[in-house]
Amino acid sequence: MTPERISILYFSPTGGTRRVARMLLAALRSSRIPLEEINLTPFEARRKRRTFGPGDLVFVFVPSYYGRVALPMQNLNALSGEGALAVPVAVYGNRAYDDTLRELSGILNARGFVTTAAAAFIAQHSQCPELGAGRPDANDRARIEAFARDVLVKLDAATGNDPGTLAITLPGDENAPLRPYLPTPAAPVLAHPERCRHCGECTAHCPQDIIDPLSFAVTEPDECILCRACMAACPEGARDLPEPVRSAVAQRMAAIRDANLARKEPSVFL
Ligand SMILES: Cc1cc2nc3c(=O)[nH]c(=O)nc-3n(C[C@H](O)[C@H](O)[C@H](O)COP(=O)(O)O)c2cc1C
Ligand code: SF4
Ligand code: SF4
Repeated sequence: MTPERISILYFSPTGGTRRVARMLLAALRSSRIPLEEINLTPFEARRKRRTFGPGDLVFVFVPSYYGRVALPMQNLNALSGEGALAVPVAVYGNRAYDDTLRELSGILNARGFVTTAAAAFIAQHSQCPELGAGRPDANDRARIEAFARDVLVKLDAATGNDPGTLAITLPGDENAPLRPYLPTPAAPVLAHPERCRHCGECTAHCPQDIIDPLSFAVTEPDECILCRACMAACPEGARDLPEPVRSAVAQRMAAIRDANLARKEPSVFL
């Protein structure tokens, strides 16, 4: 069974997930199967209806937040699988991906996709840059390339056209409750207003579309997912979490860093 089209979908506020997705995209180019890249990071892109079907192979990349699917990707109601094969991919910051793949696979299957493979790769931790620094690296690239090849080999070896024969079940109890998703303690603020040069990069990069384009303040703090895209995009370092949340988060991150310095390796499921 050779797919007629391969779609690479990703949500990537600070670019780590996109780097992994693009390594896989590059690895698939030699297959000569038509490829499309769909960036679901902008708010509007996630609302656009997209329908797939038999003949489609759809890779969906999400960052792991609190060991779960990053909140905006927990609602994939704009996607319809209609029997398309799906490959959920979790990208995490060298702590753990916990329930992310199991959750994403369940969401995709509920939208009519058939999970046929899955993987978890590592990128720099967007809250704690010492974790996963420099990842994905050359070793990760080799693992990503091998995974891309192995997925196509699996499909090639399949006989018949029933996608159900290619379905996989991920390890663990699929009915077990998911880990709690932590609430955002506070949204970033313009901590150094004197540095702001009104470039609008923070507004442009916010995946929740909640940064006012004139004042650059967060208009709906309850919608903030603490992705840090606005802070990473600010060329002047003008944005930060307000105190005392900044110190509390930094303390929590230091503990997570100290417990996770050992390099984690990718996991693949076929
Ligand atoms: C709110 C939040 C929660 C996170 N939780 C985890 C986690 O539980 N485990 C982990 O290894 N990395 C965690 N990370 C790190 C991200 O999964 C990782 O940096 C990912 O590459 C970010 O994707 P992006 O660069 O595409 O935005 C978290 C990051 C954020 C912002
Ligand atoms: S305001 Fe919140 S959701 Fe928007 S970019 Fe900043 S951290 Fe992310
Ligand atoms: S990215 Fe930074 S400098 Fe640019 S508008 Fe936003 S806060 Fe101001």
